[in-house]
Amino acid sequence: MPTLNEIRSTFLNYFAKQGHEIVPSSPLVPRNDPTLMFANSGMVQFKNLFTGVETRDYKRATTAQKCVRAGGKHNDLDNVGYTARHHTFFEMLGNFSFGDYFKSEAIPFAWELVTKELDIPKDKLLVTVYHTDDDAANMWKKVAGLSDDRIIRIATNDNFWMMGPTGPCGPCTEIFYDHGKSFWGGPPGSPEEDGDRFIEIWNLVFMQHEQFEDGSKTDLPNQSIDTGMGIERVAALLQGTNDNYSTDLIRSLIEASAHATSSDPDGPGKTHHRVIADHLRSTSFLIADGVMPSNDGRGYVLRRIMRRAMRHAHLLGSQDPVMHRLVPALVQQMSAAYPELSQAQALIEETLLQEETRFKQTLDRGLKLLDDEVAGLGDGDALPGEAAFKLYDTYGFPVDLTRLICEERQLELDEAGFEVCMEAQRNKARESARFQTAQIEWKEMEVGPHSRFIGYNSYNVETWIRRFAQNESGQWLFTLDTTPFY
Ligand code: SER
Repeated sequence: MPTLNEIRSTFLNYFAKQGHEIVPSSPLVPRNDPTLMFANSGMVQFKNLFTGVETRDYKRATTAQKCVRAGGKHNDLDNVGYTARHHTFFEMLGNFSFGDYFKSEAIPFAWELVTKELDIPKDKLLVTVYHTDDDAANMWKKVAGLSDDRIIRIATNDNFWMMGPTGPCGPCTEIFYDHGKSFWGGPPGSPEEDGDRFIEIWNLVFMQHEQFEDGSKTDLPNQSIDTGMGIERVAALLQGTNDNYSTDLIRSLIEASAHATSSDPDGPGKTHHRVIADHLRSTSFLIADGVMPSNDGRGYVLRRIMRRAMRHAHLLGSQDPVMHRLVPALVQQMSAAYPELSQAQALIEETLLQEETRFKQTLDRGLKLLDDEVAGLGDGDALPGEAAFKLYDTYGFPVDLTRLICEERQLELDEAGFEVCMEAQRNKARESARFQTAQIEWKEMEVGPHSRFIGYNSYNVETWIRRFAQNESGQWLFTLDTTPFY
């Protein structure tokens, strides 16, 4: 039974043999895309190669990409821990062609890797293609010998991949694994497709268009390939399970959590361990990539994930901070593939310890406030939005935590009331930001505030100051002529 680490190596080595450059995962904070919160698929670091804006000295690449989906378009946070396949952090294995090979090579590569290198039985596999993509359907027939009923044509966006409202896109073909009749679910395209029986393991995108903001679509200068395989899903099927949390790597983190809290990994606290194992990965990797917990933007998403894990540790009855004690188990599993993890180990442990120590204090105070608030409420009543906002604003309770506690106590949450308070706070923040900018008096050295960004190619530069100012708190602000800072 291959381990997850072995599967990663098998994938990368196979594509290296096929002339692909093994490119390290890009950081979780995208360098070239301010519209994206975190890297959420393998193609993010290659976006400009698909659109032709950038070229590199390789035309074929393969990666194991760190991904976080916990905000924005792909928000799985509330489900994580409760299902077999939702994660905030996961790895996507991919092979990429930048104007080099296209469908007729991508499909045979995928089939050979899946059936020969990974040894997945052919009769367990089926594929989908975009409904108008006869080429792809014919190739699957020829290369894999799949019968027509195992090549399913899908007319929806499930088989037309877009990175977002704008950017490179194209039709795709997906490989599915049938876990067998003991699981409920139907093949892709059927009403029961969301069941646990037929699981998508690999998405091959035929990049050939670019989508623009006004809704128009043009052909890209080159036809390219972007694929993404969910390593946790493949590990699950190769290890004879349907549940990603039972695979070797994640299981070892669950066991570390059980050990640190002196509880049974499969007992009543099972879900808590699953949440902790998942969130340990996303929080540690985010900190290693330079995100720190804070009250807005990426830092706020990190804080929400951390606090959700810490809340589950609290539910396991742990009196002392837990999360930082699990980092060595993660480092042991994943730092060979991602050395940044061991390099940042001390920072990760320190950040988790500080946050959990503070969170424990706010949790105790907040829970007291919540007890007072709900004292007069009965089953089905709603916690007022202002109370949820106070918990958020004063005690740092993410609203999903308050929601979770309400659910446990059979209470509703006045979401609309909470939103009204949030909006009022946002307006206040905007007002004060305007006020602060108004106080700053810039001294111009060169004309204009604009920096030239060079961070795609270099992190070091000798440059000069275009303008400077001192703000109300006495901090100095500079605008540099060229800068590696995004
Ligand atoms: N970009 C595609 C996906 O995210 C394939 O990598 O599924």
